[in-house]
Amino acid sequence: MALPDALSRPPTAWQRRPRPFRWVKRFLPRTLFGRSLMIMMTPVVLAQAIATFVFYDRHWETMTNRLAFGVAGEIAMVIDQMDRTAGEEGRNGVFVAAARTMDILVTFSPGERLPEGRQRLRGILETTLAKALDERVRRPWWLDTNVAHEWIEIRVQMPDGVLSVLSPERRLFSFTSYLFILWMIGSQLVLFTVAILFMRNQIRPIRRLAVAADAFGKGRDTPEFKPEGALEVRQAAHAFLVMRERIRRQIRQRTEMLAGVSHDLRTPLTRMKLQLAMLPDHPEVEELKADVADMETMVEGYLAFARGEGGEAPQPVELGSLLQEVAGNARREGGTVALDLGPAAEDEVVLPLLPATLKRCLANLVGNALRYGRQAWVTLRPAPGAWEVVVDDDGPGIPPTQREAVFRPFQRLDPSRNPETGGVGLGLTIARDAARRHGGDVVLEDSPRGGLRAVVRLPV
Ligand SMILES: Nc1ncnc2c1ncn2[C@@H]1O[C@H](COP(=O)(O)OP(=O)(O)OP(=O)(O)O)[C@@H](O)[C@H]1O
Ligand SMILES: [Mg+2]
Repeated sequence: MALPDALSRPPTAWQRRPRPFRWVKRFLPRTLFGRSLMIMMTPVVLAQAIATFVFYDRHWETMTNRLAFGVAGEIAMVIDQMDRTAGEEGRNGVFVAAARTMDILVTFSPGERLPEGRQRLRGILETTLAKALDERVRRPWWLDTNVAHEWIEIRVQMPDGVLSVLSPERRLFSFTSYLFILWMIGSQLVLFTVAILFMRNQIRPIRRLAVAADAFGKGRDTPEFKPEGALEVRQAAHAFLVMRERIRRQIRQRTEMLAGVSHDLRTPLTRMKLQLAMLPDHPEVEELKADVADMETMVEGYLAFARGEGGEAPQPVELGSLLQEVAGNARREGGTVALDLGPAAEDEVVLPLLPATLKRCLANLVGNALRYGRQAWVTLRPAPGAWEVVVDDDGPGIPPTQREAVFRPFQRLDPSRNPETGGVGLGLTIARDAARRHGGDVVLEDSPRGGLRAVVRLPV
């Protein structure tokens, strides 16, 4: 679709002003769906993240600290007891008591030594426990958190061997902390799912409105479109419907008026022709006759234009065969037309089109190419979001400054450039109007064949 004028103009000063956080935009979601989801979820996630952080900081760390110091204190006590009791018997008594009252399994391996150096610690549990052991036990130690499932081994270097303490993990770990985190993540997931479901339903009517507006812009109809959704969306949809109706009415009115005026002009023109035919031969009469003939052609042109705008409905059309038909018609009238269907030669290119309107558009362009040049080259090519029909010729072309002017009704270039032609100057007007009714446009360029290139853009 052609951009509205305001968008295709070069940026004005306020648009060019540097915007400091433009790069942030690249990371933001582009759809309304994504944005609303982000607006909804960001505060929730942020609040929960802060809560989690505070919880970690305050609750979890204090908890782990207390538990770690508890276990370290028990180990210190066992060591203390061991120092006081002599003999293996007494030692074993201490170990049994520890197992029974404190839930830790203690064994002693005489003569063993711990590995040298300090162990590398991972995670909050190990660091907290290490701190507690340093403070309470005050002997070299070694940690093994993976000794068995849900068990932790703490080995302490004694003067004559290694004391091994096995403690269940739950003694050092607060599982409610996990629950808390799980609950946080879980509640966020639930919120997220509910938000997605609700947002989807809110976005759908907006998307439908966009589709209907796009289709109307391309001359296609969406009669089933009805306003629905939130109040604002409904308002926009309603405004669109009113606007669509007004545009349709305007087109109808214009067409009817044009057809009426052209039709009514025919009768006095025919009368004038008859009266002129009855006048005696005279150079001035001949001139008058030529003028009347010109006026008749103009009126016919207007009528054809007006008729074309009558209610032709869009229908699926195969572009390739439509182009072949246009080229065939031109060849039958003696023109040389080279046709290149590009990808459409193998695959069918089917678009919803107004066939008669488009045929007249292309026939006018090919007609111009053959009238002002010797040969016409018609090419179909894909473009982003559209198909383009390119009509080239080897004629004199149109200077860039004139390329907009020639689209105006009855606008013809200096007749000395193309002496033997007898058009009225409606061909390009009709062609552009036809393309715009498809949501596309006709633009003029220089042709590599030496003459003019007309590009008809048809959005898919
Ligand atoms: N392919 C072309 N090469 C050179 N000049 C062209 C070409 N097509 C159009 N023009 C110029 O643009 C003018 C307007 O073209 P347009 O098709 O609207 O009218 P026309 O060809 O003069 O008459 P008709 O209404 O019969 O088509 C022409 O008079 C001609 O001067
Ligand atoms: Mg023409």
